[in-house]
Order: sequence, then structure tokens, then C-alpha cells
Amino acid sequence: MNREAAIGNRLRWASKFLTHGRKIASVTPSSRWLSQAMCRDIDRSRPQIILELGSGMGPVTEAISRCMHPESRLIAMEIDPDLHAMTMRRCPDVDVVLASAEEIDQILDDRGIQTVDCFLSCLPTPSLPREVNRRVLDVWSRRCHSKVFTQITQIPWLYQSMYKKIFHQVEFQLVTRNLPPAGVYHCMELREDYADLARLPGK
Ligand SMILES: C[S@@+](CC[C@H](N)C(=O)[O-])C[C@H]1O[C@@H](n2cnc3c(N)ncnc32)[C@H](O)[C@@H]1O
Repeated sequence: MNREAAIGNRLRWASKFLTHGRKIASVTPSSRWLSQAMCRDIDRSRPQIILELGSGMGPVTEAISRCMHPESRLIAMEIDPDLHAMTMRRCPDVDVVLASAEEIDQILDDRGIQTVDCFLSCLPTPSLPREVNRRVLDVWSRRCHSKVFTQITQIPWLYQSMYKKIFHQVEFQLVTRNLPPAGVYHCMELREDYADLARLPGK
């Protein structure tokens, strides 16, 4: 993406952020460094089914499609129609679905997909309804082969204790080159009582 296009995207994103605030959660789209950090657990050596939640303008979607095995299949979900259209334009070969993360089961069933290999969440988890977060974790635990639940964050460390209430192991990867600095939680081993709504982030 050239510099003018990147500046244009930042301005469009800022306008979305001013209108939708917490539903968007970040003040800028993810940088290429943050997007690459999200791809840490993708196995480039074999075809995989990869699910991304909350594609926004598609920076992470683009990074995934560049690094994944050529025969991998990527499904990206986005709830906002404008952002969905932008990801589709940016990544025309990706199956970009206009839907809420609550509908993952249906989206996978419609495509005849039983299980996914990699599950990357760019969702604004702390500001989503608890029930949406419960459903996302439930689908991950039932349908994802990977041991890792990958979650982006725009505010380093702030939510580490929250993720530790849900997972036994949480590793935080700081990305200082993103402006502002951001990071990725690599979460493993869902706690048995994760579905207890009081433990879950959200409203
Ligand atoms: C923090 S932004 C990340 C956007 C992009 N992946 C990036 O890294 O720049 C969160 C995205 O999740 C989307 N989102 C919020 N709630 C959602 C939901 N229930 N289902 C799907 N996407 C949702 C927002 O519209 C926004 O695009």
C-alpha cells in the first residue's frame, strides 16, 4: 500500500473511531508489525483453515494471506458494512463475511467446515457483550485444533489479568513499532469454568 493510501485509510479509520468508539476500539488500523505478530502461530508449511474475527480495513487479513500456505483457506468476519467492503477490496481472494462473531457456527456450517486450524481475534473483546465473548470462546474450544487463541490488543498489558481469568497460560507479545505501541495475547488452556459469565470480559 502506498503512503497516500495508508494516510487515507488512517483518516477513514479515525472517522469510524469518532462515530463508533468502543465498537472499533483502536485509534488506528493495525500496522504491518502488529499484523505480522498476529500471524506468529500460522503454520506456513501446510494448508490450514484460518478464521479471523473483526477484519476492519484488512491489515491483519492481508498479512495472513501473504504468509499462509497457498492452499490455506482464510475466512474473515467483520460486522461493519463499510469496513467489510474495504477488506474485500484489499483482499479479493479472501472469503470476507459481513456478520457478527456470534454467528461463527453458522458461517462455518454454511461452508461445510467442521474445524479450523487457526483462530485469530481482532475483536474489541472488553467492550463486547459477555454473551458474544462466551460464544466465541465456546466455538474456539469446540472447533479449533490449535492450542493457541490469538487476541490483538491496543493497550499493552492492561487486559492480561482478564485473559488469565479465562486461560491458564497467557503470553503477551509487545509490538513497540505499532503507533501507539500495542500487542498480541497468545492464550492457551481454557479454564474449566471459563463460561461462568462473571469471569468473562464484556458488558
Ligand atoms: C480493534 S478493530 C481491529 C480491526 C483490524 N483487524 C485491525 O487490526 O486494524 C476491531 C474490529 O472488530 C469489528 N467488530 C466489532 N464487533 C464485532 C463483532 N461482534 N463481530 C465481528 N466484528 C466485530 C469492528 O468493526 C472493528 O473493525
